[in-house]
Amino acid sequence: MKKKILVAREIFPEVIERLGRHFELETNQEDRIFTEAELAVKLADKDGIFSTLSERITPAVVQAGGRLKAICNMAVGYNNIDVAAATAAGVLVTNTPEVLNETTADFGFALMMATARRVTESEQWLREGKWDRWRYDGFMGVDVHGSTLGIIGMGRIGQAIARRSMGFDMQVIYHNRSRLDPALEARANNARHVSRDELLRTADHVMLVVPYSPQLHHMIGAAEIALMKPDATLVNIARGGVVDDAALIAALKERRIAGAGIDVFENEPAFNPGFLELKNVVLTPHIASSSRNTRLAMANCAADNLIAALAGERPPNLLNPDALGQSRS
Ligand code: GLV
Repeated sequence: MKKKILVAREIFPEVIERLGRHFELETNQEDRIFTEAELAVKLADKDGIFSTLSERITPAVVQAGGRLKAICNMAVGYNNIDVAAATAAGVLVTNTPEVLNETTADFGFALMMATARRVTESEQWLREGKWDRWRYDGFMGVDVHGSTLGIIGMGRIGQAIARRSMGFDMQVIYHNRSRLDPALEARANNARHVSRDELLRTADHVMLVVPYSPQLHHMIGAAEIALMKPDATLVNIARGGVVDDAALIAALKERRIAGAGIDVFENEPAFNPGFLELKNVVLTPHIASSSRNTRLAMANCAADNLIAALAGERPPNLLNPDALGQSRS
């Protein structure tokens, strides 16, 4: 008999078809957002879930999935899942690393460029019919080429961003829990490891790429923004909550920094409406990994993990190997 899975959001039809060859499916191609209570009910008879970052998999949801064996998230981040609860219950948790590195790095770079050169602000002005003459100081921005890029979180995506900076003759400094191997630093445009405060004081463009954890909640707040140069930009492609959005809005309003490019927000898809009143911010709806090829690769990666996990194999992107030894409580 086929195992049963829940595919929690609408996904590519070809991936639904692929999963259907292996499992009995409950799908959600109408794309409703399930509440925690609905998820709990739906998981009661499921062996696995294909989840996305919009499902909050809390300890109660894990408990409700009495025969659940695998939670396979279509995202590299997995702060939507209580991994400790899953591990204690013997439920395998997986993510989709690697396949999105280059696409996400492209987008980080694009947001930095758009912010520094005021691309969306000037487009909006043009669309409003305000363009009646050339001006010597029309939408003057700050340079990207030749500047110093500061990357906070020098994992695989951070390193891919650093490699892109070579073409722009940028210097790279980075802050990470631990220093990278010198060979990796060399590949990442000879990136130099510095303290977080030195990075904030020195960088012309600060890029946040750290995974979210409660310890990093509001790691960039008023005090940290106060260290930045007045002409600097801040880009957040990490996770909402890494930045104190209210503090950032206050700093942007007072033009304490030049601008910010924000793809991830506290409480998204709701977000602080103060952002909408600002011109010196580029806002995008959590799309850094969203090219067709990459989103399809992520969906297939999550499917690979689910197929392996429910076949009793070790899934390729297992996050909690300790769960392998646990039996369901
Ligand atoms: C997107 O934010 C992801 O974690 O993949």
